[in-house]
Amino acid sequence: MKRILYIPVFFIIFSCSQNENIEKISEFQPLDSLQFQKDLKKLGEKLFFDQSLSIDNSISCASCHIPALAFTDGKKRSIGIHNRTAKRNSPTLITVAHQDKFMWDGGIKTLELQALVPLQDTNEMGSKVSELIPELQMNQWYDSLSRRLYGHEFNAFTLTQALSCFQKSLYYENSTFDEWQNEGVEVSKSIKNGYDLFKNRLNCAACHSGKTFTNSSIENNGLYKTFLDPGHFLISADSSDIGKFKVPTLRNIEITGPYMHDGSFESLEEVIIHYESGGKDHFNKSKLIQPFELTDEERKDLISFLKSLTDKQLKSQWEKVFN
Ligand code: HEC
Ligand code: HEC
Repeated sequence: MKRILYIPVFFIIFSCSQNENIEKISEFQPLDSLQFQKDLKKLGEKLFFDQSLSIDNSISCASCHIPALAFTDGKKRSIGIHNRTAKRNSPTLITVAHQDKFMWDGGIKTLELQALVPLQDTNEMGSKVSELIPELQMNQWYDSLSRRLYGHEFNAFTLTQALSCFQKSLYYENSTFDEWQNEGVEVSKSIKNGYDLFKNRLNCAACHSGKTFTNSSIENNGLYKTFLDPGHFLISADSSDIGKFKVPTLRNIEITGPYMHDGSFESLEEVIIHYESGGKDHFNKSKLIQPFELTDEERKDLISFLKSLTDKQLKSQWEKVFN
């Protein structure tokens, strides 16, 4: 009986504070959409490079997603707080604006939710969101920008929206391949032959398709006979998903090695040799992965084409930001 008496008291307190919030929101003047996007992206960029997002202030998102490496880290598997090794290889973020699923296993549906994973993963940033948010609120710039954008204090919503907005701004088309395709700039015979092999004879473009060079599907490309990391099976618990991973973009592939979800290939040559062999036998291996033979010249051409996907302005653009 005693307990029931407390309930109405609780409700009164709760509804009072809610009314106060409603008054605050009505004073709030929203920014026009262009200014909103600009400010949100700026906030996201600052957060992305801010080491205070990790529990011991030692690493930021950019520690594992380095701009000059097309937002990868050059390691087989990433290294987080206390030198701990992350589960997988760091993927490029360059095409995330055009994707509908995230992580190598394709298990996360939105960029906003994705951000909460590295933040809390004890092998990556090791933070607790409930403790991190009050800390970030003490940053005057973050808090006042959140109030200007949303009419409320800096919170987990602001954090995830801003990081997502920044990452969606990272798509560029300034590679040799883009100049050829978009502006008709002449390229080498080797690049042309390589693209022909990629698109037609070898049918790589069945999976690595379109401007992002991925159809965003989940596939088994025959990397192993037995997978230590079962990929999409971790999400679906369906054995027909063992060894299936999200088809990665090939934009900037020259600078995003080592390759595959576990960084098991150091070079593009090794990747091509894997595909030439037709991959390892696995009951889920895609029918599109079949053995083929290339001459040394053709292998070079395929690699020239892959290297033509490197963005020419990436490094200079980000150097400018840092200077
Ligand atoms: C310790 C290194 C590390 C840190 C720090 C880190 N990441 Fe990652 N990131 C990774 C790895 C490794 C993966 C692949 C994870 C997987 O597939 O399970 C990944 C995956 C991603 C993806 C998915 C990309 C795709 O194509 O599916 C996004 C987006 C991303 N990270 C953004 C962030 C953001 C935002 C932060 C900061 C809040 C961050 N990362 C911090 C290593 C890191
Ligand atoms: C059936 C779909 C499919 C086809 C066809 C395919 N790939 Fe892939 N590719 C994948 C998947 C899935 C991965 C990631 C596998 C993993 O990490 O375990 C991948 C990874 C790669 C990578 C490494 C990317 C990175 O960031 O680590 C390269 C390079 C690549 N493929 C090139 C090619 C080339 C060249 C061809 C044609 C000879 C080809 N692929 C054909 C599905 C495919």
